[in-house]
Amino acid sequence: MSDNIDEYFDVALSLVRSAGNLIKEHVDGCNVFELKSCDIDLVTEIDKKVEETLIGGLSKAFPTHKFIGEESVADGVKCVLTDDPTWIIDPVDGTMNFVHGFPHNCISLGLSINKENMIGIIYNPNLEQLFTAKKGQGAFLNGRQIHVSQVKELNKALVVFETGTSRDEEKCKVVFENLKRMINLGHGVRSLGSAALNMAMVAMGGADVNFEFGIHAWDISAGDILVREAGGVCIDPAGGPFDMLSRRVLCASSQELAEEVAKSIDQFYPERD
Ligand code: IPD
Repeated sequence: MSDNIDEYFDVALSLVRSAGNLIKEHVDGCNVFELKSCDIDLVTEIDKKVEETLIGGLSKAFPTHKFIGEESVADGVKCVLTDDPTWIIDPVDGTMNFVHGFPHNCISLGLSINKENMIGIIYNPNLEQLFTAKKGQGAFLNGRQIHVSQVKELNKALVVFETGTSRDEEKCKVVFENLKRMINLGHGVRSLGSAALNMAMVAMGGADVNFEFGIHAWDISAGDILVREAGGVCIDPAGGPFDMLSRRVLCASSQELAEEVAKSIDQFYPERD
C-alpha cells in the first residue's frame, strides 16, 4: 500500500505544481467570475481549468480512481464518497481572495481510501507554500517537516476563523456569536480566507485552532491529514469524530484544546455534502 501511496503522491504533486502555474498567471487578481450558491460564492475559469487539469491527469494515470471536485459538483456531478481511492479536489480554495489578488489561495488535493484521508497536498503558488502529507510519513512545508504548536489552552491560542461564503441569517448569527467568544476567550483571532490554508496554519504551528461550519469535503480533505500528520487533531466541532461530509470541522494542536473550543462555541448544522 505504501508503494502505491508514494506513486499516487508523486503523480499528484507534479500535476498540482503544473496547475499552480494557471493560478500564478493571475497573481494580481482575476475580475472575471460567475456566482454559484450566492453573491459571495464565486467561480472563475481558472477554478474550472485547474480542476480539469487535475482530473484529466489523475484519471489517465489511475483509471479506476474516483473524484469529488468542487466545480464538477457545482455542475451537477453527485458528491459520493465510497471506500474506493477518491481524489477530493478544491481547484482554487479561497476564490474570493483569488479574484481580489489577496495572495492566500491554494489548490487543495486530498486522496481518501476506505474513507480515510491518505494524502494531502495544499499548494499556494502565489507565496510558494507547498504543504504535503502522506499517511504515517509526517507533514511538510516546502520539504521541511512541520509540527503543531504545544498550546493546550484557549486563552493562549491563536484562533483561525472564517465568516464563510454564505449570508444565511441563522449561520451568520452563529458566526458572529462565536467570533465574539473567541475574541473574549482566545489569545487572538485571524482569518486567511481559505479553509485549507487555515488548517495548514494549525499544522505548521502558526495558529493553534481552526473551526468552520459550511465548508465542504474538498476544503478539508487535505487539511485533515496534514494536521493529523503534524501531530494535531481533527474532530467534529461539537466534540465527536471528524466526518468529512458533515460540512463541519474543528482542528487543533491538541485534543484538550479541541475539546475546550468545542464546549465554548455555538453549533450550526448545514445540509450534508
Ligand atoms: C471557501 C474558502 C473560505 C471558506 C469557505 C470555503 P472556495 O472555499 O475556503 O475560506 O470560508 O467555507 O467554501 O469556495 O474559495 O473554494
